[in-house]
Parts: sequence; C-alpha cells; structure tokens
Amino acid sequence: MIVPDFTFFATASTVVLAGAKPVFADVDLDTYTIDVHDLEKRITERTKAIVVVHLYGHPAYMDPIMKIAEERGIYVVEDCAQSHGAEYKGVKTGSIGHVSAFSFYATKNMTMGEGGAIATNDDFIKEYVDLQRNHGQVEKYLHKDIGWNFRITELQGALGLTQLKKLDLMNERRRAIAKIYDQELSNLPQIRTPTVKPYAKHVYHQYTIWVNNAVFRNKLASFLRSKGVQTSIHYPTPLHRQPALKNFTSAGNAYVNSDKASEHVLSLPMHPGLRDEEVYTVVKYVREFFKETRF
Ligand SMILES: Cc1ncc(COP(=O)(O)O)c(C=O)c1O
Repeated sequence: MIVPDFTFFATASTVVLAGAKPVFADVDLDTYTIDVHDLEKRITERTKAIVVVHLYGHPAYMDPIMKIAEERGIYVVEDCAQSHGAEYKGVKTGSIGHVSAFSFYATKNMTMGEGGAIATNDDFIKEYVDLQRNHGQVEKYLHKDIGWNFRITELQGALGLTQLKKLDLMNERRRAIAKIYDQELSNLPQIRTPTVKPYAKHVYHQYTIWVNNAVFRNKLASFLRSKGVQTSIHYPTPLHRQPALKNFTSAGNAYVNSDKASEHVLSLPMHPGLRDEEVYTVVKYVREFFKETRF
C-alpha cells in the first residue's frame, strides 16, 4: 500500500498491522499531501491500495489519484484523521475514496476523547469492518472470523453526536483564526503561510507555516515558548526515517520534499476555543521574532 512519507506514524503502522507493506511516496510542498507524480512512479503490480492523508485539514489532490487507482483497479483509502468537514471540489473528504478512516482523538476537529470511525459505500468492506469490530461475530456467540473488540462505548457515541452537530461551527472558527493569521503573517518574507488550492475547503486541523530558514524554524519555536506560546512540529521525522519502519525503506529511496518539510514546518496555536486577542498575541510574537532576527 502506498502511503505519503510525511504524516503521522499511524498512517503506515496500520498498514503493517494489517499484514501489508507500506511503500512511501513523497509529498508536494504546497499542501504537504501525497505527490501524484511520485505516487505514480511507486506503483507496481503488487500495489493493492493508495492511502491519502488530508494533512492538516487540506484535502489531497483527489481527481488524479482516483484516476490512477481506477485505471489499475486498486483501492483508495482516505486518512481523514485531520480533515473532518474538509471538502474537495465541494465534496466532503471521506466520501471520495473506497474507504476512509476518521480519528476522534482529543485534539481532532471533533472528538470523542478517543476512538474513530470508518466510512465506506462498499458493502464488502462494510461487512468486513462490522465483523472485525465485534470479535468476528455474525450472530450472538457465533463467530465467522477472528476479530477484535473495536467497539466504542455509548458514552463516547453520545459525545460524538454532540460534537458532530457543532463540527461546522468549530471548523468555521478555525477558518476565522486562520484568516487572521493569513492577514497578519502572509506579508512576512521569512515564512510562507498555508496554501489553499482552488479545489479545497481547508478546515485547519493545524495552521502550519513554512519557515524559509530551518535554523530559524527552531529558534522561532524556542522564542515563542519563552513567551508562553506553544507550537509543534508536524512532523519532525518522516516515515522513511522512523526506526520502527526501517524494514520498509532502502538507501536508494529519496524523499526530498518530505525531508525538507520536516525541517521547515511549524504549527502555530489553532483551536476553536482560541480568542481573537490570543491569536493576535501569537501574531505579535512571530512578527517580533522576525523583526529582531536578521537573516
Ligand atoms: C494523519 C493521522 N492518521 C492517523 C491517526 C491515528 O488516529 P488514532 O490515534 O485515533 O488511531 C492520526 C492521529 O493523530 C493522524 O493524525
């Protein structure tokens, strides 16, 4: 299964846990989602599926990916852990590929504390997932397969339903915060604010900037920390450099963009609960850092 090299570890570890081999593909540096040309190069007759990640809440470039998959008769899996409510050409992410996975971990655009969900239109996949989540049980105490206990609790379900009702509102708040950051930071020559492609509705799971100078990326993070502003690097170690995945990569495989991204990106505070004045405080410190720092 082909997975983007620049993502959270679970995009690939789940492939390994399913008994398949993850093959990493590079990402594009506009959106940090899977690079279509690199992806195409890595397809072989053994490829069963392409996993796309709508990283940071920006949809991957789905049309060419679906075309490549259809031509070869392979599946497309959408990792929507960061893209609840995001849209590609007006269509919700999670409803484009053959099957998609959502995470409801605490930091996600909607949460149930932990847990997740799978979406599909494919009856075969639905039946398989239903079986696997409940001990392979077809009727009470009759087991057709060796499955798992992946059920979520009623309590989590109740929280999830309430969160779902608030999702659009929470996403709109994220988008409003992103607009402030865009307006206030996009004229700084030392950084690049997030790109939004014409086909995309971005839901800003993260607001991730690109800092032109990698050394200053780290210095900016330290400076902001000294001012009480928490930032994060999503992600400092690409998949092909993860110790646990070393069996799935080889020296000849280059992931130039993914490596660059890991050195240059920095996520600024983003949460629907942030107040405007807090966002402007972050802006003030970012601007202050670049004013005092000569390149
Ligand atoms: C892109 C991506 N994929 C998968 C996951 C895994 O989600 P979970 O921890 O809910 O299984 C995450 C969670 O952080 C993620 O960001």
